[in-house]
Amino acid sequence: MKQNGKASARVTVVMGAVLAALGAASHAQQDQRIEITGSSLRRIDGETAAPVQVFKREDIEEATDQVIWATDWGTEITPQRPQDAHFRGNIVEAMIAYAEGKLGEKTVDLKDVDRIIAIGSDRMMNGVREARHSSLKPYLKEHHVAIGSINSPMQCMMKEVCAQCLQRHVNPHTGEEFFVFSCFNQDQHLDFVDFKNLNDRLKANSIQEKLTNMWLDRTFGREEFKDRFGVVNA
Ligand code: FES
Repeated sequence: MKQNGKASARVTVVMGAVLAALGAASHAQQDQRIEITGSSLRRIDGETAAPVQVFKREDIEEATDQVIWATDWGTEITPQRPQDAHFRGNIVEAMIAYAEGKLGEKTVDLKDVDRIIAIGSDRMMNGVREARHSSLKPYLKEHHVAIGSINSPMQCMMKEVCAQCLQRHVNPHTGEEFFVFSCFNQDQHLDFVDFKNLNDRLKANSIQEKLTNMWLDRTFGREEFKDRFGVVNA
């Protein structure tokens, strides 16, 4: 991707059960960044050959200069472009392998990345947060900015109305506690987010989501509901 006549680069990592993307801009740019995105895919019980589904592949390739497709399990994703590669392992392992030049030619040096954006499950984002201070630390710029796209439970999505999306933050420098409305600002500093609080809230919401899904399955007579509970007599 070219911007203002300067070359920029992105590295995208996709994992089997998790979709992850790394994006970075070269040091020739003012705003250098790396993006990590993810979404969970449901696996069918008893399935032997774990399938990997890739969504919006063309869009991802269109928006990036380099893609590292990483899968934890299942069939590997074959890169379509010469600069792209596949890695078997998790996001942090993929980033380390990339930084060490084990995935072919590097489009960008992670040491030049100013901004890291993680988008995915709370556990993946927390893993990236922690690794930046441990295993990833030798490969990253010392004063980079790390942002997570926080997936707090939401309800009204009307920015500061119902407060369902409140996310606890703790300033790592002062210990100050404060709360933010995730629907108002989903992009939050990784080091400030209380991921334990987020995980607890997501778990608490899980039973309600499952019941709602079951009700919708029943309402629409989905095969999945019939398989589990028999034919529905409305
Ligand atoms: S979801 Fe209602 S205020 Fe954010």
